[in-house]
Amino acid sequence: MCGIFAYFGPKDNALEIVIKGLKKLEYRGYDSWGVALKVANDFVIHKELGKIGDFSFADIAKITQSGAVQSKINTSKFSDRFKISIGHSRWATHGGVTEYNAHPQWSHDQEIVLCHNGIFENYLEIKKKLIDKGYTFRSETDTEVLAHLIADYLKNFDFETATKKALAEMTGRYAVIVLFKNEDKIIAARRGSPLIVGKGGVSNEYFIASDIPAFVEYTNKVQYLDDNQMVIIDQFGARFEDMITKLPIEKRVVEIIWRYEEADKGDFPHFMIKEIMEQKETLYRAINQNENILSQVAEAIKKARGAFFVGCGTAGKVCMTAEYIFSKIAKRHINVLFGSEFKFHEHFLTDQSLLLAISQSGETADTLEAIEIIQKKGGKVVSIVNNEASTMARISDMMIPIKAGPEKAVASTKATTSQIAICILLAYALINRLHDGKQILIETASQINDMLNPRYEEHIQQVAEFLKNFESLYIIGRGLNYPMALEGAIKLQEVTYIHAQGFAGGELKHGPIALISKNTPCIVLVANDESKNEILSNAIEVKARGGYIIGISPENAEVFDYWIKVPDNSNTSPIINIIPIQILAYQLALLRQNNPDMPRNLAKSVTVK
Ligand code: G6P
Repeated sequence: MCGIFAYFGPKDNALEIVIKGLKKLEYRGYDSWGVALKVANDFVIHKELGKIGDFSFADIAKITQSGAVQSKINTSKFSDRFKISIGHSRWATHGGVTEYNAHPQWSHDQEIVLCHNGIFENYLEIKKKLIDKGYTFRSETDTEVLAHLIADYLKNFDFETATKKALAEMTGRYAVIVLFKNEDKIIAARRGSPLIVGKGGVSNEYFIASDIPAFVEYTNKVQYLDDNQMVIIDQFGARFEDMITKLPIEKRVVEIIWRYEEADKGDFPHFMIKEIMEQKETLYRAINQNENILSQVAEAIKKARGAFFVGCGTAGKVCMTAEYIFSKIAKRHINVLFGSEFKFHEHFLTDQSLLLAISQSGETADTLEAIEIIQKKGGKVVSIVNNEASTMARISDMMIPIKAGPEKAVASTKATTSQIAICILLAYALINRLHDGKQILIETASQINDMLNPRYEEHIQQVAEFLKNFESLYIIGRGLNYPMALEGAIKLQEVTYIHAQGFAGGELKHGPIALISKNTPCIVLVANDESKNEILSNAIEVKARGGYIIGISPENAEVFDYWIKVPDNSNTSPIINIIPIQILAYQLALLRQNNPDMPRNLAKSVTVK
C-alpha cells in the first residue's frame, strides 16, 4: 500500500508541503514515514516510525537546518531554482517497521533517492545479481533493489535512460517516484498502483501523489497516469511517456470538483463516529442516482451470461449481501467473489460476462486485478465506487457513484450502507420497480435519522462496557443478515482487536457451537422476514449452552439478555442492522484504548495483492 508524494516547483516550503500532503495519504499506511529534500546536488533525508500525526511541524526547520538524521550536508545551500521533495507513508510489506525499511530508499552514496508503493515481485532475483556485483543492502525492502539497479545503470547511461532500463526489469504492481542528485528532475512511473499529477498554480509547479487529497489545497488541475505510463518533470514541464511503446503521450488536464472541507472531523473526536453519524444523510445521496444509468446497468445484468459481483473486505461482504438481495427482490442469480479469488474462476469468463466491482476507494489491487482479467476476456465492467476519480471509475464501462463523501476511518461504515443501497436499487431496477426501491430506501433513511441519537448511543455504550474485557464474541444472522454477521465481525476485529467471528445461524450446530460456554457473548441479527423464527431458535440454542445473547432486532424476544432495538424494514435490514454494530465497535475501541481511525496493521486503501 503506502502513500507517495512529490513536489517540484518554486516554493521554499517544499518539505512542509510534502509532509502535510503525506498526512492526507496516511489512510494508505501509517507505520512509518519519511521525506527527502533535494538541496543543491545532495539530499536531506528524514525518517520516523509511527504516524505523521505525531510529528510537530515546528520540527521541519530542524530537519532542514541541522541536516538531520542520515544527511551529512550543509543545507545553507538551499537556494536552488526548483525545490524538489518526495515523501512516503508506509504500510510494511517487505521488512519490519524500522527506520531502515522506511522510505525514501537510496543507492549507496544517495545519488538515487526514491519512494515506492506496491511490490516488486522479482526483487530477490535482482537483489542477488546486485549482491554478486558487490552492492550491499541496508534494508529488507524490495524498493532498495530499484535504487541500486538505477545506480548501476547510471554508470553507463543518463538518469532517464537508467531509470527506464531498471524499471523495465522490475515485475509486479507499483508506483514509484525517483530523484537523482545531479539533476532537477523527477521521474515517476505507474504500473498497477495509483499516481496522479497535479499541475500547480504557478508555472513549472507540479505535485505527484497516490491520491488527490495530498495536493488538492494547491490545485484542482490533474493528469492521471495510467498503467505502464511515466512522467518526467523538469524545467521544461511535464512529459508523459508510454513505458511499453516508448512513445510520448498527450495527457488531458482534468479540472476536478472536490469538496475539500468535507474531510474534516468537525466536532467529532474521530472520523469513524463522524462517518457513522453521517449515515443520516449519505443514504439520501446514494438514492439520488441517474435513473438511466441504473436502468442500463440492470439491463446489462439481465443480458450478461454471468454477472459477477466482486469486492474485498467490507465491500466483499456487500457483494455477498447483494446475492441475497437479488435473489429475494429480483429472483435473479448473481455470482459473488472476493477480488483475490477472482482469478481462480477465470475459466468461467467470456466476452458475455459482466463484472460489477464494488469498492469505496476504487483502488483496491485485488479488485483491479479482477477487472483486468475480465477485460482481457472481452467482458464488460460496472464499478460501484465512492471515489469517482479512482482508477476503477476511470477504467470501467459504466460507473455508479455511491456519493458517500470522503471516508477516512479505516473501518468502512457509511460507504458500506450506501453500497448496499445501490444494490437494492439495482435489484428493483431489474424488475422495473425502481421507484418502489427508492421509496423503501427513503423510508429507511428517515428511520436511521430517528435512530441515530445520543440516547441510542448511550444504550449501546452499556453493552460495550459489559463486552470490553471479553477476548472473543460471535455474531449470527441468516439470509440477508448472514453477510452482515460477517461484516459485523470485521468491524469488531478491525478496531477492537477482539476475536470476533460471524456465522450463518444454521451453521452453528455443525461446529461453532462448541465454542460457546458460560457467558460467551453472541450478537444475533434479526429481521422481520422469513428468517426470523429460525435465527431466534439459533439464539435459544446458544443460550442453552450458557451464551449471553445480545439481540439486534425490531422487536424484543425472551431469549435476549440485552436488546438493541432497530427500525423495522425487512428488505433493508442489512443497512439497518449493521449500524448498531458500527457504533458498538467504535465504543469498544475507545474503551480498549485503541485508535478507531487508524487501527494497528491495517490501511484504508489496499493497493498490494
Ligand atoms: C481495506 C479497508 C476495508 C475495505 C477494503 C476494500 O481492507 O480497511 O474497509 O472494505 O479495504 O476496500 P475498497 O476501497 O475496495 O472498498
